Amino acid sequence: MTLSDILPTLAHSLHPAPDPRLWPSVDDRLLRWIAATFGTPTYVIDENEVRLRCRRVREVLGGVRVVYASKALSCKAVLRWVHEEGLWLDVCSAGELAVARAAGVPDEKILFHGNAKTPEDLKAAHGVGRIVVDSVDELERIADAKVLLRVLPGIAADTHPALATGDTGQKFGLGEHDLGRALEVLDGRPDLELVGLHCHIGSQIRHVATYEQAARRMVALIARLGRPIRELDLGGGFGVAYTSSETDFDLVGFADRVTRAIRYECARHRVEPPQLIVEPGRSIVAKAGITLYRVTSVKHPFVAVDGGMGDNARPALYGARYQPRLLRDGGPTTRVTLVGRHCEAGDVIGDLDLPRDVHPGDVIAVPVTGAYHHSLASNYNQVCRPALVGVWDGTTRVLVRAETEEDLLRRDLG
Ligand SMILES: Cc1ncc(COP(=O)(O)O)c(C=O)c1O
Repeated sequence: MTLSDILPTLAHSLHPAPDPRLWPSVDDRLLRWIAATFGTPTYVIDENEVRLRCRRVREVLGGVRVVYASKALSCKAVLRWVHEEGLWLDVCSAGELAVARAAGVPDEKILFHGNAKTPEDLKAAHGVGRIVVDSVDELERIADAKVLLRVLPGIAADTHPALATGDTGQKFGLGEHDLGRALEVLDGRPDLELVGLHCHIGSQIRHVATYEQAARRMVALIARLGRPIRELDLGGGFGVAYTSSETDFDLVGFADRVTRAIRYECARHRVEPPQLIVEPGRSIVAKAGITLYRVTSVKHPFVAVDGGMGDNARPALYGARYQPRLLRDGGPTTRVTLVGRHCEAGDVIGDLDLPRDVHPGDVIAVPVTGAYHHSLASNYNQVCRPALVGVWDGTTRVLVRAETEEDLLRRDLG
């Protein structure tokens, strides 16, 4: 029995220490300074945490090629850090490719994705290291490239339906029939080199077993194709904890069980073990990010802040919830619902205990917002998108400046 069990009122006035599984080591005083200096909302990204996560995934996965999925967070500085840590880069539009090139990532380390690549995308993609082909139509438009064929492994992933991309009936990848047609096209195109197969079962995946199942199916497919396949890309999707009650993906278990499954299946089917590739996005940058807001109004049980679904689309897209924190000490707490400023009832960030005297001007920090926040931001309600501020060892630098109303009006030609 703890002290707070004996004295329930005490539980409401104790401020639990921030959970280190959710927060990078950035001092609260620095966060308050950033809010005061750069305004709110502001995205903060901890360079050290991004680099550590790149190193850890490379270290744990050994000989596996790690490709960062830049859709999770794409800006020149972050892509440079990731490249310096030895990862390849996955882009899926001419825009993401332009940022990667501007960050100095060489073409040979870039893998180009996309389920509906436009002619402009494919023109821009000329010269990249790999193109992951998603349709037969695409093959007609590509020339002189090393390609992987993305297939649907037919696996229902253990994640939100909007994040599951590998089951049959999905818009992604080639089904059985289209795969046959793609191989026929490739047979007549010596300028296109088939180097590998690709699948991506979804995002925010919790269980290693889902990848094991995908790996087994992909090796069986390689055996059925009966042609040399040098690379097997199992996509991204490693889950991360957004609240203390969730767990992070078991990367060590993945390294052990998936590589073992591939070795076993390759021996069974008598195929040469391919180079394994993974494409993590979220698990590289999510925990490195914090979003800072200021309280604008309190109407119990609602506490409203100066951002919301414009800078964080995830609650509205997949019912995502967070564990935010007030950046000051306070007295006894009460349960509130943290909501955004946008004109949608679904603009909710999470339920949390806040000091009863929470008031306009207070700074609220939301953890685990490095992935799919900045990159999914919109101008709904003509609200300007926030700045992205990089933090390194107590110092700060604006990586992407905040949008201004002038920016909004510049595109509006009247
Ligand atoms: C093809 C592909 N690879 C990698 C990823 C990255 O997934 P995550 O950020 O969950 O690791 C995605 C995300 O949608 C994807 O579509």
